[in-house]
Amino acid sequence: MGLKIVSTGIAVPEKTVTNNDIAQFLDTSDDWIVSKTGIKQRAVATRESLTDLAFKAAVSALKGADLAASDMDFIICSTILGDYTSPSLACAVSERLKTICPAFDINAACTGFIYALSMAQAYIDSGAAANILIISADMLSSLVDWTDRAVCVLFGDGAGACVVTRGNSLKYMKLAAYGDTSVIRQRNGTGNNPFSAHASKGEFMTMEGQEVFRFAVNAIEREVNSAFSALNITSSDINYFMLHQANKRIIDSARKRLSLPEEKFPVNIDKYGNTSSASIPILLNEMLEGGKIKKGDNLLLTAFGAGLTTGTCVLNWE
Ligand code: UT7
Repeated sequence: MGLKIVSTGIAVPEKTVTNNDIAQFLDTSDDWIVSKTGIKQRAVATRESLTDLAFKAAVSALKGADLAASDMDFIICSTILGDYTSPSLACAVSERLKTICPAFDINAACTGFIYALSMAQAYIDSGAAANILIISADMLSSLVDWTDRAVCVLFGDGAGACVVTRGNSLKYMKLAAYGDTSVIRQRNGTGNNPFSAHASKGEFMTMEGQEVFRFAVNAIEREVNSAFSALNITSSDINYFMLHQANKRIIDSARKRLSLPEEKFPVNIDKYGNTSSASIPILLNEMLEGGKIKKGDNLLLTAFGAGLTTGTCVLNWE
C-alpha cells in the first residue's frame, strides 16, 4: 500500500491542569485518578481555540516535511467537534494556511487518526493525491460536564498532525464500526425548532465507563491478533504497539492478555490524559522526537472510541 508518514507536529494548550487542581472543586483525588487511569495531568484550553491548536500542529508538520501548504492535495481533519459545526475544522485551518485544496472533517471519535490514514491511503492509491495533511484535533474540555467526576478527569485537549506522501510504509489497515450510540456519546440539541417532537438542549458527554473499558480491552486483543494473522507475523516483528491513550489500565490489561512486554507499549497518558483522536499522533511525535523510532521499525497502531469504532494499522517506518 502506497503511503508513508514523512513528518509530525503537535500542539497542546498552555495550561496544565493537575489532578489536584480538579480535586479543588470535585470530590476526587490524585490517588484515585492515577490508580484508575494513570493520568497525572492534562492540557486544557483557556484562550486557545481548536483551530489554533490544529493550525499550530499543521505548521509544524509541514515544516518537518519541508513542504508548503500549497503542496497539499487534501487536508483531512479528524475531530469530534471543531470550533464550528460548519464549516469544518479542516476549512478553518485551510483559511489560515491559505490553501485551496479540498479540506474536510471526519468523525470516528478517538479512532479518527487511523480512519484519516485509511482515507489518505485511498486517495494516494487512486492517484488523486500525492501529499496529504492529516490533523487529528480534539477539545473534549468543552464537551464534558466538569461536575461529572467519572468523565471530566479523563480527557485533555490537543492536536497531532502529519504529512503523508507516496511510500511503502503502510502494511496493514483495518477499520470497523460496531454501531452503538449508548455507551459513549454526546447528543446534540434540536435548536429552537418549534416543530420538534423531542425538543432537547443537547447533553454533555456521557459514558458507561466499564462497558467502554471492556470493549477496548477485547478490541485491542482481537485486532492485534488479526493483524498478526493477516501479515503472518508475531509480536517479535513489532517494535512498538502504539495504542490510543485512553487509560493506562486498558493498555496494561490488553498487553497482559497478549503476553507482551511493557517496553513495547509507550505511554504518555500521564502527561496529556485522553486527547481523543490526537492521542496517537501526539505519541508518535514524542517517540520520533525522542529518537525512539528508527528506519525499518514496525509500528502497530490501534485505537478505539465512540461509535463504537476501532482502527488498526501496521507501518514499516521509512
Ligand atoms: O476513548 C475512550 C474513552 N473512555 C474511556 O477510556 C473510559 C474507559 N473506562 C474507564 O477508564 C474506567 O471505567 C473509569 C476510569 C472511567 C472508571 O473506573 P472504574 O474502575 O470502572 O470505576 P467505577 O466507574 O466502577 O467507579 C468506582 C467508584 C464509584 O463510586 P462508588 O459507586 O463505588 O461509591 C464512582 O462514583 O469510583 C467513583 N468515581 C470516582 N471517585 C473519585 C468515579 N470517578 C471518580 C473520580 N474520583 N474521578
